[in-house]
Amino acid sequence: MIVAIDGPAASGKSTTAQGVAKKLGFLYLDTGAMYRAVTLAVLEAGVKPSDEAGVETVLGEVTLSFELEDLSTQILLNAKDVSGPIRGLEVTRNVSAVSALLVVREKMVAIQRQIGGGQDSVVEGRDIGTVVFPRAEFKFYVTADYETRAARRQWDLKQLGIERSLQVIVEDLKRRDIKDSQREHSPLTKPEDAIEIDTTKLTIQEQINTIVDSVKSESE
Ligand code: DC
Repeated sequence: MIVAIDGPAASGKSTTAQGVAKKLGFLYLDTGAMYRAVTLAVLEAGVKPSDEAGVETVLGEVTLSFELEDLSTQILLNAKDVSGPIRGLEVTRNVSAVSALLVVREKMVAIQRQIGGGQDSVVEGRDIGTVVFPRAEFKFYVTADYETRAARRQWDLKQLGIERSLQVIVEDLKRRDIKDSQREHSPLTKPEDAIEIDTTKLTIQEQINTIVDSVKSESE
């Protein structure tokens, strides 16, 4: 069974998806982390995200592997754990450009289908309910207003030792939303058959329970 959770950056998707996976005993797959790892590889190779041929070469040269335990998606790039570095500012600023490339998407989607298709999974991203698993049994689209999203992102960055103003974060989020939802391939969009959850005024537990209750009631 697949529970697809899509939505924009910092909408509360990851925390919700992890909590849902824990309660249901499902595998948790963070597809954004995969695009971030490719972006890190591209930047480390000194290749510009706009250089599609260069990115394709990088994709062919690196090995990406995953350790999907303890409700986190640990990503190994050339056997090195890059779970921390993929959250850095450079990667965040460039990930929309890299993830817009068809060559990148095709490779990541194939891996996602292979991992999620084999077991009960909660899969979070931007195109899970529309492209990766269009026949997912459950689809949710998580949103929140900009102020709330920026405050959450500010807190996340603080944990990484990075101080940023709310205004700068809102601008970054808006820029990323535009890029993610206006790209040619698999843009971020709410799947027609998804249930929308606005997390602006919800606690984490409420967000998790909304999804878990809905999955449990429909699976009974
Ligand atoms: O969820 P996140 O912020 O870690 O995702 C990082 C970027 O990866 C996001 O800006 C767009 C891209 N992404 C995507 O294109 N498709 C997905 N399924 C997941 C993420």
